[in-house]
Amino acid sequence: MRAAVVRQVGSSPYRLRASLLAAAALLLAAVALPGAAAWTDCSTGPTVFKVSEVELVPTVVKPGDVANFTITAEAAKEVRMGVVQMIVHYAGMPVWTQLDNLCDKTAAGCPVQPGPVQVLYSQLFPAITPPGFYDVTLNGHSITEALFCVKVEFQVVPPGAEQVAEGWAAALKGPAQQQVLSTHRKSLA
Ligand SMILES: *[C@@H]1O[C@H](CO)[C@@H](O)[C@H](O)[C@H]1NC(C)=O
Repeated sequence: MRAAVVRQVGSSPYRLRASLLAAAALLLAAVALPGAAAWTDCSTGPTVFKVSEVELVPTVVKPGDVANFTITAEAAKEVRMGVVQMIVHYAGMPVWTQLDNLCDKTAAGCPVQPGPVQVLYSQLFPAITPPGFYDVTLNGHSITEALFCVKVEFQVVPPGAEQVAEGWAAALKGPAQQQVLSTHRKSLA
């Protein structure tokens, strides 16, 4: 699957302007590029990690997909331990939250050394995930300091006919699968 760098659409100093820009950018993205994702820095003060890039793979999430978020940042100093809170919003409402050990989520474990660091998140969007607008907030903290906060906005689209067929194929193996296909063929004739 192709990786795409998610655009950053705002930064903290100009909050209102940034959110207006973000709204405009999302609107543009929705018109020009269905399913395109965007990220914003949601930190409210100084952070130990300076985030430069957030990747979402796949860029268009379908129910049943595992979506991978990769945060690329620069650590200002060594970090021995920390936690990351993930909050998933659907249509503006929180629908899922979990707390993870930072050390399980960084590419190189802990301690995080000063310099480049990657935080990796794999999140399953179950088959029953309703299509619509989602955002995922990943908020990292050490015991005393804010590490990073990014909010990724994206769309979950309904599966296409091809994915529906794959779902049937996976669910009904062997003769049952052939039966489904032949019934389908008959209905096309
Ligand atoms: C997402 O990450 C997991 C774990 O690192 C990996 O096994 C999987 O192939 C990745 N999926 C995509 C679509 O890149």
